[in-house]
Amino acid sequence: MRASSVISSLTLLAATVSTAPLVRSRAAQASDPPFQVSKLVIDTVENGNTTIKFNVYDPDPLTNATATCSGSWKADTSGNPQTDYELCGNSTFAWNFDSFDSIEKFTLGLEHQFKDPSGSVGDPPYDSVINFANAVVNTTYIGCEGVGNVSCKQKKAISAPIYATAAKKR
Ligand SMILES: *[C@@H]1O[C@H](CO)[C@@H](O)[C@H](O)[C@H]1NC(C)=O
Ligand SMILES: *[C@@H]1O[C@H](CO)[C@@H](O)[C@H](O)[C@H]1NC(C)=O
Ligand SMILES: *[C@@H]1O[C@H](CO)[C@@H](O)[C@H](O)[C@H]1NC(C)=O
Ligand SMILES: *[C@@H]1O[C@H](CO)[C@@H](O)[C@H](O)[C@H]1NC(C)=O
Ligand SMILES: *[C@@H]1O[C@H](CO)[C@@H](O)[C@H](O)[C@H]1NC(C)=O
Repeated sequence: MRASSVISSLTLLAATVSTAPLVRSRAAQASDPPFQVSKLVIDTVENGNTTIKFNVYDPDPLTNATATCSGSWKADTSGNPQTDYELCGNSTFAWNFDSFDSIEKFTLGLEHQFKDPSGSVGDPPYDSVINFANAVVNTTYIGCEGVGNVSCKQKKAISAPIYATAAKKR
């Protein structure tokens, strides 16, 4: 399921983020806990598809949310999605590939939107937060087996530091 066929508010959000006011300083962003990626598997079938699946967790006490993200694309093309974010199921998380060198080396882009009930993030109506994070994945974090058909599984905790935060009108 490509993002282009799932035009969600989250996807639109990503596109309009540059115009949304950034409300937290760098220092404040750095104090936001990183997202955690778990149960990452990425498999490729020779002349078939590459398939990825992982769980993402946002430990921010305001949201404390998890989702499962997945994707599948033809193995002889580069990892998708690369420009659009793809929704993680019907959650408020979305993901893409920030970069994709191979199934053993890529960077996940992650975003998560939630409402901040304290209103501490922005002046109304900008009471929704969207956090952007990156997760570097390589053979330090996943172990791969096979030739042609390659199967990789997560072997070490993956932390995805938040690099930007935006306030968003609901
Ligand atoms: C986060 O959610 C989990 C599962 O619902 C719960 O067990 C845990 O106590 C929550 N943690 C916080 C900090 O709210
Ligand atoms: C392979 O990827 C294509 C393109 O994303 C998708 O349309 C197709 O359903 C996938 N096939 C399988 C077996 O996952
Ligand atoms: C989200 O998807 C899950 C699994 O498909 C489903 O059980 C749940 O009801 C859905 N939630 C919403 C809000 O649509
Ligand atoms: C994987 O990426 C991390 C973080 O960038 C880096 O410290 C580590 O050396 C890399 N591992 C390999 C095997 O390239
Ligand atoms: C790779 O996986 C496909 C699909 O499961 C299978 O048909 C094929 O025989 C496998 N190839 C090898 C070399 O194991």
